[in-house]
Formats: sequence, C-alpha cells, structure tokens
Amino acid sequence: MENTDAKLIEKIKTLQQRKNAIILAHNYQLGEIQDIADFVGDSLELSQKAAKTDADVIVFCGVHFMAETASIICPDKVVLLPDLHAGCPMADMITAQRLQEKKKEYPKATVVCYVNTTAAVKAKSDVCCTSANGVRIVEKLADAEQILFVPDQYLGSYIASKIGREMILWPGFCSTHIRIQPQDILRLRAEHPQAKVVVHPECRPEVTALADAVLSTGGMIRFAHETEAEEIIIGTEVGIIHRLRKENPGKRFIPASEQAICPRMKLITLDTVLWSLETMAHQVKVPERTRLKAKAAVDKMLEVG
Ligand code: 13P
Ligand code: SF4
Repeated sequence: MENTDAKLIEKIKTLQQRKNAIILAHNYQLGEIQDIADFVGDSLELSQKAAKTDADVIVFCGVHFMAETASIICPDKVVLLPDLHAGCPMADMITAQRLQEKKKEYPKATVVCYVNTTAAVKAKSDVCCTSANGVRIVEKLADAEQILFVPDQYLGSYIASKIGREMILWPGFCSTHIRIQPQDILRLRAEHPQAKVVVHPECRPEVTALADAVLSTGGMIRFAHETEAEEIIIGTEVGIIHRLRKENPGKRFIPASEQAICPRMKLITLDTVLWSLETMAHQVKVPERTRLKAKAAVDKMLEVG
C-alpha cells in the first residue's frame, strides 16, 4: 500500500523525535515541506537557526550550499541533505581554483562571497554575505582598496549601486531569477495598479529598477506582514507564495513569473525527508581545514547579522 502524506508525516515526526532532529526549510521549498519544518526562513535566518539549535541532527531542506553552511557552523552535528542532487547552479559557476586565479589578477582585492558558494570558495574569501545583509557587509569594507564580489553579478551590481562604489563582479547569475523579465513587472503593474512590487536582488537590474522594494526572501515575508497594500507582486522563486498566502490570508500575492521555479529546490519531498531520517543520508560534512577557513568568512558575516 502506498504511503499517504499523513502517514509519511507521522513517520517523519516519530523518527525526528527519536533522533533529536530539527527540520530546517528554505522559503522556496514545496508547501508540504514548509508545513512539516520546525523553521522556515531565508539563507541568513537558516544559518542563524543552525548556529543556535541544540538538536543532534539537522535535516536541511534546501540546496547543498545551505547544508554545507550549517555543517561549517555546527561541525559536531549530523547535517542531512535528503537529495544530493539539490545543488545551486549559481554556486557551481565558480570554483576555488578559478577564484584563486582571479585573486592573482587582483591581489589587493577583498573577496566578498555570496553564501551561494561551496565551502571551498568560502574558504578562499574574506567575508561571506547573504541577500539580507550584503549591503551592510560591503558598507563595512569602506577601507578596502578593491572588492571582488562572487559569484552573483546581479546581487553584486545591486549592492554596488546601493552604496555607490564599484566592485569587480564575477559573471555568475541565478538561472531561476533571470527568467523574471521587466515586461512581466510592467504588465502586472498595469493589471494591478494598487499592487506593491517586491523583487529579489538576484533579479536583473532592469527588474530591480522597477520594484518598490528589493529584498531577501525573509525581507519579503516581513514586508508582506507590514505593508498596507492588499496586492503584492512577488519577484522571486514561486515556492515562497505558499508561505506568504498561509501567513497573510487577507492579502493577494501574484508571482511576477510562473516560470521562476528552482528545480533543485523541489527535489526535497516528504519521501526523501523520511528516507533521509531512516538512513541518516546524505551527510554533508566539510573537511576540517576548509571548514575552519570558510568559518572565518561566515563568522564575520554572522557578527554583522
Ligand atoms: P535568500 O537568502 O533571500 O532566501 O535567497 C536564497 C536564494 O537562493 C535565492 O535564490
Ligand atoms: Fe540557486 Fe537560484 Fe535556486 Fe537560489 S533560486 S538556489 S540562487 S538556482
């Protein structure tokens, strides 16, 4: 007999208790995963949560770099990623070796890496940032002669425009967010003239230029609670709409593009979460030398918050 969702959830909860496991889920996860998670959040909130938990096991419902970040912060915990194919294509647009070559070209540059990077890339960076704290982090680097920002050119150019300084940008991008086009925003604004438009800084500059606010996914959640607008156009991965609707039943959320789907985020399912708790796989662990170097960059970020 096939397991129904209710049966799967019951089994997950039982195993979770037995193994003292916490389930952390990113805002882009499938609705059923968000609903069983102990905590749902953006990249920064998830790493802050991982840093504070006293669970023995973290089941990370997100993509590989997020599980790696949890493992960098909590080396003594077992960090599980229910599907190893859940990787971030943008994080794979840079390697530690290619970053090392770039650093030789710009030996005086301070390297800021977006959290969407491997531990090996973080280990070669000076400080890490997320979309929630990128502007604050780079602002603090006023004394840096040059800044090399990797790997998201769009987050990098957004931060550069906010603080009015040039940065050397790695040419990476998010293959999901670039699907959101300026004409999507223009059309939806015409159809919903009262609506507010919020977009993620991974969107193209032509898109961020049209928005009322440019926010991390956690920032969008707060914006939705606080705004008096009843209609909000959401320019990011569509998974976040589940949480927005659930938490704000009186408001209407309109995805800027139905095509903004991150396929890797959707690989985590109730079945794979259960399998992961049953088999204690896939364990994500960063080699200690790399971890210590990467941790220095992550710690600098967490100090800023
Ligand atoms: P947030 O940190 O804003 O949740 O973004 C993570 C991400 O992968 C965006 O594509
Ligand atoms: Fe990576 Fe983009 Fe997916 Fe975020 S939405 S995990 S940046 S591919």
